[in-house]
Amino acid sequence: MDLGFSGEVARLYETYRRGYPAPVVDAIVDAFALSADDVAVDLGCGTGQLTLPLAARLRAVVGVDPEPDMLALARRAATHRDVGNVAWILGGDADVPAVGALLGAGSVGVVTVATALHWMDTGRLFPAVADLVRPGGGFAVVTNGRPLWLLDAPWSRELRAFLESWTGSDLSWGCGSDDTDQRRYREGLTAAGLTVSATSVAYPADLDLPGLVGELLTAFPASELPTGPDRERFAEGVGAAVGAGPFHQRVQVDLLSGRR
Ligand SMILES: C[S@@+](CC[C@H](N)C(=O)[O-])C[C@H]1O[C@@H](n2cnc3c(N)ncnc32)[C@H](O)[C@@H]1O
Repeated sequence: MDLGFSGEVARLYETYRRGYPAPVVDAIVDAFALSADDVAVDLGCGTGQLTLPLAARLRAVVGVDPEPDMLALARRAATHRDVGNVAWILGGDADVPAVGALLGAGSVGVVTVATALHWMDTGRLFPAVADLVRPGGGFAVVTNGRPLWLLDAPWSRELRAFLESWTGSDLSWGCGSDDTDQRRYREGLTAAGLTVSATSVAYPADLDLPGLVGELLTAFPASELPTGPDRERFAEGVGAAVGAGPFHQRVQVDLLSGRR
């Protein structure tokens, strides 16, 4: 099944998706008292934005993603950075029980899902994770800030108007970062018997126009990615809507922890 993350979308992710700065990894380590003896599973790992910095702090990480192109680039990034303690598995949220059978129930320090939970069946996933993690370990739901077109800034409002006209869709959904989804995740984690707490890490990040366009392109499914002259039209349209930049944002990474 094509999930829309193949080919050029994966390459755009690798180039333009911002990673997670050290204080985010610190917050995950602190939330579950992770040590250099722990193993993590990073589900929906993409090109390894969270997997690789997490691996630097733990014994090993299992990066899981259903898109082979994402995994290939994640593996390449690990090789370039000389990270040798990540095992990459082609799979999705439905495979967590199989990962549990492999690693053993109660063996994992944390299962992280960064900017990917909105693709998953949380009703099935949260109980499976509760079985997989050790006491004190748990599940980390990580956002990577709000979508660029939903920020509280004039350029972001202009951007939303342009994107809604380009796609012909309402773009009010925060892809898991909004209050409604966060509440649903919190309730699901609690129902799975996990103790929930929340924290955030905020930091300033500026984008120039090419960076803004590049990051926006990562939000298109592969089948709708503008190509050729359409790509140029898209980039010009973004520039005409928002100006030349730089575009200031305060990225707020929210961490929802469900501890066993
Ligand atoms: C927005 S990307 C996030 C990548 C990375 N975690 C990050 O924070 O940048 C979403 C990822 O979730 C993966 N994905 C989609 N459906 C999934 C599922 N059912 N189970 C696991 N991963 C899934 C996609 O292939 C994609 O790599």
